[in-house]
Amino acid sequence: MIPEAQNPPPRRRKDLLDIETLSPDEITFLLETARPFKDLFTRSVKKVPALRGKTVLNLFFEPSTRTRASFEIAAKRLSADVTNLAVSQSSVVKGESILDTVDTMQSMKVDYMVVRHGASGVPSFIARHTPASVVNAGDGYHAHPTQALLDAFTMKEALGDFPGRKILIVGDILHSRVSRSVSTCAHKLGMEVGVFGPSTLIPNGHPSYMQVFDSFESALQWEPDVIYLLRLQLERQSAHFFPSMREYHNLFGMTRERFRQVEKRGLHIMHPGPVNRGVELVDEVLSYERCLINRQVENGIATRMAVLYWLQPELTAPKFEEQEEETTP
Ligand code: CP
Repeated sequence: MIPEAQNPPPRRRKDLLDIETLSPDEITFLLETARPFKDLFTRSVKKVPALRGKTVLNLFFEPSTRTRASFEIAAKRLSADVTNLAVSQSSVVKGESILDTVDTMQSMKVDYMVVRHGASGVPSFIARHTPASVVNAGDGYHAHPTQALLDAFTMKEALGDFPGRKILIVGDILHSRVSRSVSTCAHKLGMEVGVFGPSTLIPNGHPSYMQVFDSFESALQWEPDVIYLLRLQLERQSAHFFPSMREYHNLFGMTRERFRQVEKRGLHIMHPGPVNRGVELVDEVLSYERCLINRQVENGIATRMAVLYWLQPELTAPKFEEQEEETTP
């Protein structure tokens, strides 16, 4: 059985599109629901029948390694059937619109659509046009909610409780959907949020709870518990925001010198991946015992299982399903 994390649990939603619209109780519920799913991974059979008979469609219009594989494994561990639509080999390249593609897939009665797109708002646009549950797997600069949830789960494992803990997010805050979702999630859970990066990559009008630092050194003196290094998103930058990669590394990266301080203070390091070695961090960070990057990937599966388990598609169930055995794990 999956223990109910709260009694009563929060009302189920059709879609997960961002962190902003989740309440702290809903976030806490998802983190608590992910815990027993993670415990499954130590068993020889890592599956539960919760989504047996359901179909999950991965619809990725942008490249992904972690998120796509993680959703596929999560859905399979819930016993769902999974289809990965290779967008670059689909009729999208023949000019088929997103809505026609969604309509076509809906005709095949998929229950969940996991959507990544380079343009902000595409997952919510799709969600308005399908009874399937839509999960935003990253849209433009906007949001990456399951990344934020898996990061929160990972921080909870590493730190215990959230209130009073500090997360320092470093890098390209302006273009990062990860930064937006992670900072919102951390704030909702009671953490203090600091940011540091090139002044050209700090958005004007950032939220008032965010403390902005003007040097890595002053940010370290703030004594963060977690340093969250963002990937430098060269593919989203339409202008040159800093002179060179070398300068970025020297000013904003986890250099050898800074890493020595981090090790001495026992701080945790996180990164959503993929890592640009020698830019956001030096190689030796990856073998540091408080570097949580691999744990983030591992926890992505349990967290996404919790999300798929919680969401409720609006599809009408066929009558014969009512007579089937209970599928709650
Ligand atoms: N963190 C993340 O979204 O990685 P992928 O682009 O590999 O999915």
